[in-house]
Amino acid sequence: MDTILRKRSITLAAATALSLSLSSCFTGAIPSADRSLVELGREVFNDRRLSANNDVSCASCHLSEHSFADGHIVSIGTGKRSGTRNSPSLLDTGKAASFFWDGRETSLREVVLQPFTNPVEMGLTDMEQLAVLLASRPEYAAFLRHHNGATQLDQDRLASALSAYIGSLPAPDGPAFRHLAQETVLDEQALAGMALFNGKAECGTCHVFNRENTTLTDNKSHHTGIGFEQVAGNISSALDHLDEVLVSQPLGHAVLSDSRVSELGKFSFSRKVEDLGAFRTPSLRNVARTAPYMHDGSVPTLEEALEREIYYRNLSRSTPIHLTVEEKQALLAFLHALSDDAEPSPPSPS
Ligand code: HEC
Ligand code: HEC
Repeated sequence: MDTILRKRSITLAAATALSLSLSSCFTGAIPSADRSLVELGREVFNDRRLSANNDVSCASCHLSEHSFADGHIVSIGTGKRSGTRNSPSLLDTGKAASFFWDGRETSLREVVLQPFTNPVEMGLTDMEQLAVLLASRPEYAAFLRHHNGATQLDQDRLASALSAYIGSLPAPDGPAFRHLAQETVLDEQALAGMALFNGKAECGTCHVFNRENTTLTDNKSHHTGIGFEQVAGNISSALDHLDEVLVSQPLGHAVLSDSRVSELGKFSFSRKVEDLGAFRTPSLRNVARTAPYMHDGSVPTLEEALEREIYYRNLSRSTPIHLTVEEKQALLAFLHALSDDAEPSPPSPS
């Protein structure tokens, strides 16, 4: 009981801190006490009627039981259309500096509106169709403006509500986080793993995790090697292809429906050669619960993700890092300690 209460109050404190930090970076600042905005956001997040075939909501691909990822290799949207990318957990999204696996967006408010019209996500024709759908539901009156007899979507308010909801998601603190906060002590194996993570294995240079910074990301992009063989051999044709597909659709649609575009990584929007196949360092919060792994979902288990990361990091070094079987097991124990056993549940409706 005691621990449940403590956990809940930590979660609430974290949620408040998050909504405070979120509201301060919004242009149209949301009062942090605006619970009704979060609740509107929750309502929309879970509403399948806002997709082309009434079959998919945000929550179909960001499920609490998967730490707000979806457990699929790549996400499946309306009409069972497959995308190109693995659904990322949203637990640390409210604190992120850039969004999507390639970091192509820097405003959460922009990001939360895009799935409605992405053909492989919710598949609506345009935001007007969304306005019509919302207008048919009395619970969404707050999102609508009426102008010269026409019903218009208040995109600003919709973006605020969805961003506030995402900002209110709990940040579950697995044992490793509580260890840094000096609330608990890790067992010997996980402790050895943490030392390796920040030491010999050099994971912590990108997945930053120390007393001052527990974000598990450096907010930068790196060449991962994952999926790159698809473009590596034929870069100039990949570039022509990118220009061709962008004539008829926005980048976000092309990324999620065309693997040749997806695999270009950060290059698809920066157009710098050094960004070819570069992806953003993901947070590893609750990582034991967000399989499968990597931007393309190509790595099924955490054990394999660890092996891949060691392998690919070694490729980019002049002297490879050799880890013994025991050291790899310790690293794995530490990755498990970044995860909380309980299912992260968003704050319940008041
Ligand atoms: C069909 C599955 C699907 C649906 C539906 C969906 N998402 Fe996602 N979401 C994804 C995938 C896949 C990505 C990663 C896309 C990429 O990297 O290009 C993503 C990325 C995101 C991100 C960026 C996370 C980060 O940390 O970079 C946010 C925020 C997000 N989705 C919110 C939403 C919201 C809000 C909705 C509903 C309006 C929604 N999603 C609907 C699959 C989905
Ligand atoms: C040079 C920066 C860098 C280093 C060093 C690094 N990583 Fe990563 N890591 C990344 C990036 C970037 C990705 C995303 C790769 C992708 O999807 O293509 C990633 C992905 C992962 C994933 C999958 C996460 C998910 O949600 O799918 C795990 C697990 C992981 N890293 C663990 C580690 C471990 C353990 C180490 C140390 C052995 C390590 N990483 C070292 C940058 C790094």
